[in-house]
Amino acid sequence: LRYLYDIAAPQRLGKPVAPLQITLRHRRDIMQTAQLPATPHGVAAASRVLAKGGLLAFPTETVYGLGADARNDHAVARIFAAKGRPSFNPLIVHVASISAAQALVVWTAVATKLAAQFWPGPMTLVLPLKPDNGLSALVTANLPSLAIRIPANPLARDLLDQFGGPVAAPSANPSGRISPTTARHVIRGLDGQIDAVIDGGDCAVGLESTIIGLEKTPTLLRPGGLASGPIEACLGQPLTHHHISDTLNAPGQMRSHYAPTARLRLNATSARSGEVLLGFGDVPADLNLSASRDLVEAAANLFRHLHTLDTRASEVIAVSPIPKTGLGLAINDRLQRAAAPRPESEAAL
Ligand code: TXA
Ligand code: MG
Repeated sequence: LRYLYDIAAPQRLGKPVAPLQITLRHRRDIMQTAQLPATPHGVAAASRVLAKGGLLAFPTETVYGLGADARNDHAVARIFAAKGRPSFNPLIVHVASISAAQALVVWTAVATKLAAQFWPGPMTLVLPLKPDNGLSALVTANLPSLAIRIPANPLARDLLDQFGGPVAAPSANPSGRISPTTARHVIRGLDGQIDAVIDGGDCAVGLESTIIGLEKTPTLLRPGGLASGPIEACLGQPLTHHHISDTLNAPGQMRSHYAPTARLRLNATSARSGEVLLGFGDVPADLNLSASRDLVEAAANLFRHLHTLDTRASEVIAVSPIPKTGLGLAINDRLQRAAAPRPESEAAL
C-alpha cells in the first residue's frame, strides 16, 4: 500500500515543499511489538530501539508518547505512518535538560522563568528553531519554530538520559483516537505497528501537556495538564489565548481528534436508554471521572475511562457537565474534540 502524504503547514512559509512518500506496511510484514519492563534492562533495550531508528512508545506523566530519534528522517516518517496520520503536523521534541533544549531553540528570559518553575513537567514551550539544529525537518513540518519539553516521568527521564538525544513523540495512538494512558492502550491501538512499548504503568496527569507559544507574547496554544493560572502567576501577566486550531490546519488540530469509536453526548445530566454515562460529581454513572468533583483526578481518569467505556457495546457515551475552570478547560477541550462530527478523511482511517 502506498499513500501520498502532503505536508500541511509549509505554505505559511511561502515556499512549496515536495510531497513525501511513506510506505505503509503491508499486512504480511507487520512487526512484533516488544513489551519492555520498567527495569534498567528494559530502559537499555528501549534506548537501543531509538538509536536504531525504531519506534518506541514510552510513558510520560501526561500520556504515552510514540517516540523516535528526532534527528532521523526515516524514523520520524515512520511515526506518521504508524499513526496513520493523513498529513504531517509538527511534533513535540522531548529532551533531558534545559541545556539540551537550548541547543535546539532560541532561548529567552521568559523561557528560563517558566522552565525553572515547571520543568520537568506537563508544559511544552514553542520557541524559534536554531539554525543547524540537526533535527529532521519532518519534526517541525517545516515550521520555523519547535515545540519542546522535559517530561517528569522518571522512566522517560532515564530513557532520555541514556539515549542522549532529542526524541520526537506525539501521543501513542492511531490518528484521531483517544490518547493512551497505559501500555495496554498503546498495544490496543498500535500493536504490530511499532517496535516496542516500555511499560511504566499509569500516567499520573492523564492529559497532554499545556502548550505555550513564546515566539511573541506568551500565548496559550493548547490547554493541557498544567492549568494556565499558575503559568500566568509565574509570568506576572495573563496569557494570550490563541488555540492552535486557529493557525495550523492539520489533523492534530481537527475538531474530531481524540475520538472514541462511540459517539459522545456532552453536558448530559443522566444517561438515556442505551447510553453509558461518564459521570462527574455525585451522579449514578457507569464510570465517574471524579465523584468528589476534583478536576485533577478527572483529568487523570479522562482517557482511561473513555477507553474503557468505548469497549462497551453502547453506541453513545453520555458525559456529565464539567466546570470550565482550571484543568476543566483542557478536559472540555478534549471532550469537545471527541464529540465533534468526524471528517470523511478521518472516518476513513
Ligand atoms: O503531553 C504531550 O504533549 C504528549 C506527550 C507524548 O509529550 N504529546 C503530544 O503530542 O500531545 P501531539 O503530537 O499529540 O501533539 C502535539 C501538538 C500538536 O497539536 C501540534 O500541532 C503542536 O503540538 N505543535 C507542535 N509543534 C508546534 C509548533 N512549532 N507550533 C505550534 N504548535 C506546535
Ligand atoms: Mg495526540
